[in-house]
Amino acid sequence: MNQWLDERLHLSRLNDKFLRKAFPVHHSFFLGEITLFSLIILILTGILLALSYEPSNSLIVNSFDPGTAAKANMVPAAYHSALKINAMPFGDMLRRIHHWSANIMVAAAIIHMMRIYFTGAFKKPREINWWIGLLLLIFSALTAVTGYILPYDNYAYQTLGVIYGITKSVPWVGDWLAQAAFAGNFPGEQVIPRIYGYHIMLLPMILVATTGAHMLIMIKQKHTQPQYAKRIAYKKIVGVPLITQQTPIMLLLTLIFAGLVILFAAFIPVHPVEYFGPPSSTPISNIKPDWYLLWIFGALAIIPGFEVSFLGGHITAEFVGALLFPIIPIGLLFLVPLLDKSEENVYYAENPTNHPVRLGAGVAFLVFMLVMSLAGYKPELIASGLLTSGNANAILWIMALLLPAVAYFLTLAIVRGIRSLREADERDRLAHGGHGGVTPGHSHD
Ligand code: HEM
Repeated sequence: MNQWLDERLHLSRLNDKFLRKAFPVHHSFFLGEITLFSLIILILTGILLALSYEPSNSLIVNSFDPGTAAKANMVPAAYHSALKINAMPFGDMLRRIHHWSANIMVAAAIIHMMRIYFTGAFKKPREINWWIGLLLLIFSALTAVTGYILPYDNYAYQTLGVIYGITKSVPWVGDWLAQAAFAGNFPGEQVIPRIYGYHIMLLPMILVATTGAHMLIMIKQKHTQPQYAKRIAYKKIVGVPLITQQTPIMLLLTLIFAGLVILFAAFIPVHPVEYFGPPSSTPISNIKPDWYLLWIFGALAIIPGFEVSFLGGHITAEFVGALLFPIIPIGLLFLVPLLDKSEENVYYAENPTNHPVRLGAGVAFLVFMLVMSLAGYKPELIASGLLTSGNANAILWIMALLLPAVAYFLTLAIVRGIRSLREADERDRLAHGGHGGVTPGHSHD
């Protein structure tokens, strides 16, 4: 059989080229894989959900609560189909698995990115994969946002109103852009089919293509090697081949991961469509995006309202907070490989404490994003009495600027402490005739 296939498809060439690839065995390298498994689960559950979802905002009679002969209870078909999916055997479970996989995918991608950043794996020759990875993260978030709109309950409807408003706030071209993106004035008749197209076709196609490019580049450039590889065989690839050793490890990890997601989904419900009801003019207080977009919401909350007119265009706080401000942190992430060229052509994953400035900058960045996310809870902080409406903006701005600086200097101090302990340890070992166990000329990186 093998020979039969080989004569036709030259599989042995594929085997030599790809299937014997050595994979480093280290837990931190599973983060990218967990991101990949989540994407696969998302696609599979998404296909099943699409079989029963109705992408239309036309009004139909709500079969769960038809109303009276005199006044039928009309609801959007999309909302009705979400109720129908919930009522189907395992339908609610399917929605939950889809929802939690999306959250886990974004979380795993962020932690994976942190691993890459702190170990310097973004440096030459892996800059392109860092940039592709960032695009993956941005498109994952966009896919999730479009997914939230699809059940078209009042929460989704009000959120869509906010997103429409933000798109409209782009000076000069906002009206045109919002109408082009959302198929007419909000809430146009075609808005759900349009968003459905984004969520199940355009964005997943981009995600799959970008993930494919990410994987091919990673296979071509090979992983950075974990530190222990240095001691086993210096400047040699140390790992287990994809076929046969790595595949069972990955399969086992997929099964454990799928089991955990299912367990998670069984106990933690997701967005209760029927609780919010069909779209209505009743506003929902404190609409919030998912946790990974809260920082943008935080910026919107603490930038004071203003409007400046310039050459016929209007620059508003909404535009600055939701669209201009995010360019700063996202732009900084894109610049990372250009800012840190401390050592070219990284072969081994670096020890973060050997690069204190990079480590400190990374910690400061994370603290900044956390404070901005906290600012997304400004109304709750005021309601709880921790802040007052008079001082909330000022205090949150001070925290956003001060705490990252504190985190930076604290990290430098901790790293200095760790390094002096390590040096003392090394001196001690040398004094007692010990051997560091590291290849000469290549210190603990
Ligand atoms: C959102 C979807 C993503 C998927 C499915 C994904 C998947 C993977 C996988 C499976 C690996 C190999 C295993 C590993 O090193 O952990 C990898 C490596 C890599 N990823 Fe990602 N990734 C994603 C996002 C990102 C992001 C956000 C970044 C950075 C901004 C990034 C940058 C990289 C780099 C530079 C490597 C090579 C690492 C090395 O050689 O050590 N990826 N990715």
